[in-house]
Amino acid sequence: MSVSQSLSVNKFMGWLRTTTMTTVSPPQDASLKIEGISKTFVSQQGKVVHALAPTTLAVSTGEFVCFLGPSGCGKSTLLSLIAGLEQPSSGQIKFGQQPIQGTNTDRVLLFQDGALFPWLDVQGNIEFGLRQIGKSKEERAEIAHKWLERMNLIGFEHHNIHQLSGGMRQRVAIARAFAINPAMLLMDEPFAALDAMTRDRLHHELEHLWASTRKTVIFVTHNVREAVALGDRVMVFSPRPGRIVAEFKVDLPRPRSLENVALVEKTAEIMAVLQQIMAEGDEPL
Ligand SMILES: Nc1ncnc2c1ncn2[C@@H]1O[C@H](COP(=O)(O)OP(=O)(O)OP(=O)(O)O)[C@@H](O)[C@H]1O
Ligand SMILES: [Mg+2]
Repeated sequence: MSVSQSLSVNKFMGWLRTTTMTTVSPPQDASLKIEGISKTFVSQQGKVVHALAPTTLAVSTGEFVCFLGPSGCGKSTLLSLIAGLEQPSSGQIKFGQQPIQGTNTDRVLLFQDGALFPWLDVQGNIEFGLRQIGKSKEERAEIAHKWLERMNLIGFEHHNIHQLSGGMRQRVAIARAFAINPAMLLMDEPFAALDAMTRDRLHHELEHLWASTRKTVIFVTHNVREAVALGDRVMVFSPRPGRIVAEFKVDLPRPRSLENVALVEKTAEIMAVLQQIMAEGDEPL
């Protein structure tokens, strides 16, 4: 396992350890209200990093919102705050009208490398969260089978993670996330390491899955076209300390095709704004 992989496995394990392990059906209200949230980190050496400037955002139940912004502007930090893994320095986040107080299986995180458990096989990974929420052996097998089928992984149940391609690993990660039936998915550059064709296929699969389950999704990416292909809205962040500086509504019909002229035009429009914003540069440390 690489260092970054083991960091996200640890983060995912941290999320699992601290998560309220009750069976949670998605609430009717899976909306998000971020009110003046900011985050400042202070390192052990006393170095202060203003990661996120006060940020306000409302996301409706079932909406697909993409975050775009320069590296280091606080996008992952904001996802960690929504997941309940970090505490904000100011402000409040409400999910389904309730203030977020720590992690919960109603909000699940997905990472760039999948953060799969290398000591478990494919089925074991998908069943892991189900075991944590107290599902019986039979229920786990049934739910896992459904997601193996849905993510086109039948035949790979007992493969080790290292025997899978990058795209298959991300499908396992998506299956593991959806299997516990969260109300919200927090996706941190989940397809960044994949080739263009695999990424394109997974866009279609995710779009289809989202349309049929209507989970609320927050999706972080550096890829403007990906954001336009998937999002109902695209929020553009400033350099660090990040704040939302532009918002684009994407009302193109679904399913979307990357070749669609309107999609290409919207991508160019957002790209131009992003380039201007990136020229600002980070706050000096
Ligand atoms: N736990 C932490 N302790 C100290 N500083 C942190 C911590 N987590 C993040 N930071 C700092 O906060 C800033 C924002 O980091 P974050 O990972 O949220 O950026 P990002 O927008 O996700 O970047 P990227 O696009 O490269 O993934 C960075 O300067 C980072 O060094
Ligand atoms: Mg990040």
